Amino acid sequence: MKKISLFIFLIICFFSCNQSKVSAPQKIKGAMGEKAMVATTHPLATATGLKILRKGGNAIDAAIAIQFALSVVYPQAGNIGGGGFAVIRLVNGTVTTLDFREKAPNLAEKDMYLDKNGNVLKAKIRLGHLASGVPGSVAGMWALHKKYGQLSWSELINPAINLAYSGHLLTEKIAQSLNDKQNDFQNVNRYLPWVINVKGWNKGDTIVQKQLASTLSFIQKNGRDGFYKGIVADQLIKEMILGGGIISAKDLINYEPVWRDPIKGFYRGYTVYSMAPPSSGGIALMQLLKGSEYFDLGNMEFNGAEMLHYKTEVERRVYADRSVHLGDPDYYKVPTEHLISQKYNYARFSNIKKRKKTASSEIIEGNIAPYESPSTTHFSVVDPSGNAVALTTTLNGSYGSCVMVKGAGFFLNNEMDDFSAKPGIPNKYGLIGSEANAIVPGKRMLSSMTPTIVEKEDSLFLVTGTPGGATIITTVFQSIINVIDFGMGIQEAINAKKTHSQWLPDTLFIENGGIDSEVQLELEKRGHLIHFKESSSKINAVLVLEEGRLEGGADYLRSDSYAEGF
Ligand code: GLY
Repeated sequence: MKKISLFIFLIICFFSCNQSKVSAPQKIKGAMGEKAMVATTHPLATATGLKILRKGGNAIDAAIAIQFALSVVYPQAGNIGGGGFAVIRLVNGTVTTLDFREKAPNLAEKDMYLDKNGNVLKAKIRLGHLASGVPGSVAGMWALHKKYGQLSWSELINPAINLAYSGHLLTEKIAQSLNDKQNDFQNVNRYLPWVINVKGWNKGDTIVQKQLASTLSFIQKNGRDGFYKGIVADQLIKEMILGGGIISAKDLINYEPVWRDPIKGFYRGYTVYSMAPPSSGGIALMQLLKGSEYFDLGNMEFNGAEMLHYKTEVERRVYADRSVHLGDPDYYKVPTEHLISQKYNYARFSNIKKRKKTASSEIIEGNIAPYESPSTTHFSVVDPSGNAVALTTTLNGSYGSCVMVKGAGFFLNNEMDDFSAKPGIPNKYGLIGSEANAIVPGKRMLSSMTPTIVEKEDSLFLVTGTPGGATIITTVFQSIINVIDFGMGIQEAINAKKTHSQWLPDTLFIENGGIDSEVQLELEKRGHLIHFKESSSKINAVLVLEEGRLEGGADYLRSDSYAEGF
């Protein structure tokens, strides 16, 4: 009952905001837990994580079970046909990260998405069989299990198999997202996968996925080989051959995730750990935090004109750096230390003017279209011993390439669009790139995923992350400064209106209702081109409170997310 009234209250807050009258962030608490917390984008995935923790599994076990459960109940982003990144902090303070990002197939070529006039073939890189990188999720989960798993592999996959085999009810949001993609599903599949429904999907429809259940059973029985070899691999390769894709059996067998050192930085006495390249998230986040420190954003009015002006100017410079300097470190020498150093960033931000926006052309030239709706998902877990996992995973676009592997029941990613198909030409998120992120066989495409863990005085403090394509980095940044600088709890920080800019397009995106008309005028006077839109923020996070209890924050306002602890 308490939860229902909170939900109604949040909905009223959401709809009562408009541009001319803005409510301050509400003092709202998220879910409370004494020792454990799970926050994911779907109540059934959260329930799966909790079940594993209650059985005595650790945070890593729970994360593996959640990843597989999401592939069933949240098919637009939860996946076994995509990839992602995990940041893990053990109770003893050890922090490590796992990169299970997709890779370019061996037959990929630098100019494979260009027509004879050198134009990017957007349909080819974003939809259908050629858009997919070699999936990394199953190998990633297997590597996590081998290194840290406490429960058996079989126990971790059981909940997902049950959900797929016995069925679950569609939420309104997922029904809508399936309906939005009907044309794409029909255009790229050679058969009628279950997602195609000419009558349209509705909230409450029961979804049974027997083929996916069978695929998950192979993985349950054979570990990573259940996906990269044998029947499932054969189905995937057949799909590629018949659909004109290039992922080969050798690509699958050779796929390996990579353990990487985290990007580590310090912010106002807190230690921040995030993802290293091939995600741009960690480096860009550290740069943004340096910008917040340089301008002391925490001493300005929250989402006031001064704060948003400086925040935007910092973001534009950071995304300009991203477009040139970042790529897969196994193929390109990324100047990580330089980019996250205080000296570099303070110098970089020193030409920001108080009352005037710098022209984008003065940062670097370009002219591109706004980003489209993204689909990735993030979850955060803390177990009773104090181990924590921040894991972000994706198919890239909603339902990835929209190709569902025939007979196997899972979607393939369209992650090739995260490469720079041509220097200076934007991907679906409006992000541009350069040689650092050019296509090379076996290389990982640059990501924005930013799973992050923050420590306070050497103890766990915050586990955070979000989907949102290009907006992931600025959204994670806001979740951190909202808590550390503006004194919000995690649920308030999640609910608070978000803003985003990324140098190009030359626009300051503000969530509907995020500022009042006075602030808008002030920002426009400084030269900012404002565009109001829905936010793609869907943070799921855990905050450790003073007394050691856990606050779980989930984005109830913008998604089906759900946090629960015990
Ligand atoms: N596909 C979105 C990202 O990796 O940033």
